[in-house]
Amino acid sequence: MNITIKNIRGEDCACDALICLLFEGGSEVLKKMPQAIVSLVKQVFSKEFSGKQNEVFLMRAPDSVKPGRLLLVGLGKKDQISAEKIRQAGGRAATYLRSMGVKKAALSTDLLYGLKISPAAFVEGALLGLYNYKRYKKDEDKKSLESLTLLAKSSAELTEGLKRAEAVTKAVCFARDLVNTPANDMTPTEIVRSASSLRSNKLSVRVLDRAAAKKLGMGSFLAVAKGSKEEPRFIVLDYKGAAGAPFVLIGKSITFDSGGISLKPSEGMEKMKYDMAGGAAVLGVLKAVSDLRLPVHIVGILPATENLPGGSATKPGDVAKSLSGKTIEIINTDAEGRLVVADAIAYAKRMKPKAIIDIATLTGACLIALGNEAIAMMGNDRKLLDALKKSGENTYERVWEMPLFEEYKEYLKSDIADIKNIGGRNGGLVTAAYFLYEFAGDTPWVHLDIAGTAWTEKDKPYTPKGATGIGTRLIFDIIKGLK
Ligand code: BES
Ligand code: ZN
Ligand code: ZN
Repeated sequence: MNITIKNIRGEDCACDALICLLFEGGSEVLKKMPQAIVSLVKQVFSKEFSGKQNEVFLMRAPDSVKPGRLLLVGLGKKDQISAEKIRQAGGRAATYLRSMGVKKAALSTDLLYGLKISPAAFVEGALLGLYNYKRYKKDEDKKSLESLTLLAKSSAELTEGLKRAEAVTKAVCFARDLVNTPANDMTPTEIVRSASSLRSNKLSVRVLDRAAAKKLGMGSFLAVAKGSKEEPRFIVLDYKGAAGAPFVLIGKSITFDSGGISLKPSEGMEKMKYDMAGGAAVLGVLKAVSDLRLPVHIVGILPATENLPGGSATKPGDVAKSLSGKTIEIINTDAEGRLVVADAIAYAKRMKPKAIIDIATLTGACLIALGNEAIAMMGNDRKLLDALKKSGENTYERVWEMPLFEEYKEYLKSDIADIKNIGGRNGGLVTAAYFLYEFAGDTPWVHLDIAGTAWTEKDKPYTPKGATGIGTRLIFDIIKGLK
């Protein structure tokens, strides 16, 4: 969709539909609009349209004005307005207009300026909402919303905000594509191809294959890859937009998680193609950061492999030697995410990073605790935890902190190795994080569990069914604030 800015009034804009944002109750019906529009809107208010959040109503515009139609979009109660509500309105308006076959839309921005919310939030919602995954459908619906004109005075702030919204939404859609692609096509090698598409004079990509990982001593990562014919890849992206120690992002990249010998039940197993959503988010962040040439040093690490059973697969009870030197008794081969992330953390620590954030679809227990509404967060650095919480509010990719009590250490004691990879049924979300904590040690680190939020079964205003691309906007938000 093409986005432009035009400093003209809504009534003078020749478009298929003029989008008008309205609060519930209609207390501020289109203050600056011409009388013909105002009286028309007043007629439908409280009968056909009430202004509830994400409610839409498309009507013919009066003949005296240039737009063909008016799209009324509800924002809910005025005292509860937020950037998120505007983002949702953007997604709802854009997808609705597309479904109605509208091609050229315009947005009246007077109300947004009054609220001190950037129209970029609306654009962000629209671009995210219009995403669809087309790879395997030949005769996809051809309807598309071609352009959105923002009726506003152009300013450096607005163009900058739009540029950022376009880069970030593109990165989210890039991540969604990776996650939606089934495991037969989204293999570790294919992730390398996607990572390589980001290469530039500032961004380098290094890839370790099975032999190289073995030589380094990544026994924990390789224990997961053992059952699979598909080659594992340990992928390291280095974006150097500034000097100094890097900020490391680790994304769990299990391209398919069958559970391994501790096989998962078959019902719903097809979903386990999304077990690389953490890696996709990390690639998304690097894409946005490098497209916008941000002055930061970010390293992304994607330990990528399948987790399959087979004649050479790891068996429950096997002991692996991790890159950190710690030995791990693998009680359950389905707790594989922590095994690949543990080696990635050890690898990251060799770079003496400023901090590490790992993002992973790590536990079913995360879904049980928080449902689909929040990312579970645990870590050892108060400043980083608080900054992520703030970014969660900014982006509405909300995080909820869970504890890392030292008592959880007990849960992971093994009789024969330094640690075991599961802590029992109770506290599955926190013991998984505690396992990673044992590898992070005192390096500033935060773990994000996105098992409940990386996938949605239903369409949301700016997130269509399927991969959500979660984590990309959240982590981008914290990075853009880094010095
Ligand atoms: N990839 C799964 C976690 C998961 C579950 C993600 C549901 C998304 C939706 C992970 O590798 C896993 O299987 N975890 C096990 C751990 C258990 C064996 C301790 C789990 O949560 O059941
Ligand atoms: Zn698993
Ligand atoms: Zn998994």
